[in-house]
Amino acid sequence: MNFKKIAVIGSGQMGSGIAQVLASHSADVFLFDISGDQLKKAKAGIEKSLSKLQEKGRLQEEPSKVMERIQLIDQMEGVASAELAIEAATENFAIKCEIFKKLDQILPSSSILASNTSSISITKLAAITNRPEKFVGVHFMNPVPIMKLVELISGQLTSSDTMTRMEALVAAIDKTGTKSADYPGFVVNRILMPMINEAIFALYEGVGCKEAIDTGMKLGTNHPMGPLELADFIGLDTCLAIMEVLHEGLGDSKYRACPLLKNYVAAGLLGRKSGRGFYEYPQK
Ligand code: CAA
Repeated sequence: MNFKKIAVIGSGQMGSGIAQVLASHSADVFLFDISGDQLKKAKAGIEKSLSKLQEKGRLQEEPSKVMERIQLIDQMEGVASAELAIEAATENFAIKCEIFKKLDQILPSSSILASNTSSISITKLAAITNRPEKFVGVHFMNPVPIMKLVELISGQLTSSDTMTRMEALVAAIDKTGTKSADYPGFVVNRILMPMINEAIFALYEGVGCKEAIDTGMKLGTNHPMGPLELADFIGLDTCLAIMEVLHEGLGDSKYRACPLLKNYVAAGLLGRKSGRGFYEYPQK
């Protein structure tokens, strides 16, 4: 592992998964969140995931050893010695800007800043820091401990040294990296989100019921989850945010978000995380 101390900013589904994977590959991780409750939830989620992996014989050491390498932090100054910071906060440009301004101030100038954004411009985020050559996109897939892919995105000024170091990190955590140019949605969401949005249009227009749409894509095209089930899994607010970035950034009406998706998000039906989206998820 070419980084010893890594900060992960945001301890939601993605941040906690990233922290888990890094710590499972010997990095010392500072897992930061402004919410103490969210940090507690993240810790419980990581423990649950590690014990699942241990049961399957897919963990090299005891879960407690991995947990010892994850430090929960609720003041950003606490991550100041990190050589790399990976931001995995809400998919919102203003929030990410605020985080990167702060990280740029507190981390040594040699540290790399990375964003796990699923669609926001890496070049724009890099431009608010004083180190755009040390700024890169690292886009993990959900669930991070299981999914093999990490998209690596070069901003306009990302140096080749920064990209080489991130490629080495991705290899060290046993994932496969693919490169994407810095355009809205990169590669995966440029293709995946319009498919999900189209599935929501198919539901909205009555082409099929949700079961027909999901079963059709699962059994008809061998996807592990149907598109509506996957949308619930990703979070409908995240899906909407990504569609809005595609629509605005590419300026083509084919990327307009389905009105039904907008209504679901407005109603707080966000998918698994809120207990209800296209399907219902009884809270345990
Ligand atoms: N930690 C540890 N293990 C986990 C886990 C986690 N968080 N989540 C699932 N697993 C394990 C399970 O224990 C199980 O292991 P075995 O196969 O060894 O028994 C395995 O993963 C499969 O899990 P389940 O049997 O519970 O359920 P499943 O067969 O439906 O698989 C899934 C779950 C892996 C999530 C699968 O449904 C899948 O691949 N779905 C598609 C996920 C996907 O497309 N992700 C990308 C989303 S897009 C994205 O992330 C980018 C973005 O910007 C929006």
